[in-house]
Amino acid sequence: MSLGLVNETVTLRPGTDDDRPSDLRAFVAVAMRKQGVVGAVAPSSPSLARALTAVVPSSGTPLVVELGPGTGSISEAIRRGLAPGSRQLAIEVEPSMVAHLRRAKPWLEVIHGDAAELGALLAAAGVTQVDAVVSTLPWSLFPASRQSRILHEIGSVLAPGAAFTTVTYLHALPLPMARAFRRRLRSAFEEVLTTGPVWRNIPPGMTYVCRRPVLRAEC
Ligand SMILES: C[S@@+](CC[C@H](N)C(=O)[O-])C[C@H]1O[C@@H](n2cnc3c(N)ncnc32)[C@H](O)[C@@H]1O
Repeated sequence: MSLGLVNETVTLRPGTDDDRPSDLRAFVAVAMRKQGVVGAVAPSSPSLARALTAVVPSSGTPLVVELGPGTGSISEAIRRGLAPGSRQLAIEVEPSMVAHLRRAKPWLEVIHGDAAELGALLAAAGVTQVDAVVSTLPWSLFPASRQSRILHEIGSVLAPGAAFTTVTYLHALPLPMARAFRRRLRSAFEEVLTTGPVWRNIPPGMTYVCRRPVLRAEC
């Protein structure tokens, strides 16, 4: 399914230094209505955000893409690691999350669309290669074909040496779906490192850091 780019009229107001209470309210409101899209009960913690954003280049002016920003807990951590002149894009499928981000975090370049269309969405934004991809997409909600499609799209836009990082939850690690996702990651990337656990998150998480995509067609 292609959601492509969607034009919306959203009232913008400047973001504040601490939007966390309003971020949390917005997250919980959407998560309660759309658990089948959001796939989490609470936003990621600052500890998980730090672990996931460790791959963001700390020098130069990189271009970083986030998949599934929700209400922006990871976006804030990415922003803190970037030097002026860097570019930060976030691709979010859920319209109310997009509206919240555009209102609360006007500094973030938000694209309303589906991560499965990553290459096309970035091309429309004038981007062909990126220096890091940070994802908190709810992989367990996606069928295998969609996981593979998104991993292929990510691999296709990573610059040489760039990393893709994503989260998995500790309690789910032994489950067949999580093991299948790990196999899919290992078939899509030559290097897959697991870091963590990050205990200070609900639920505790682990991160995968993936480099050197294997671009054989869709894996
Ligand atoms: C688990 S939440 C993570 C939110 C936030 N990044 C955090 O860590 O608190 C997953 C987010 O991915 C978004 N999402 C789900 N499927 C998506 C897709 N195919 N493309 C882009 N975003 C998607 C959901 O709407 C939700 O905002």
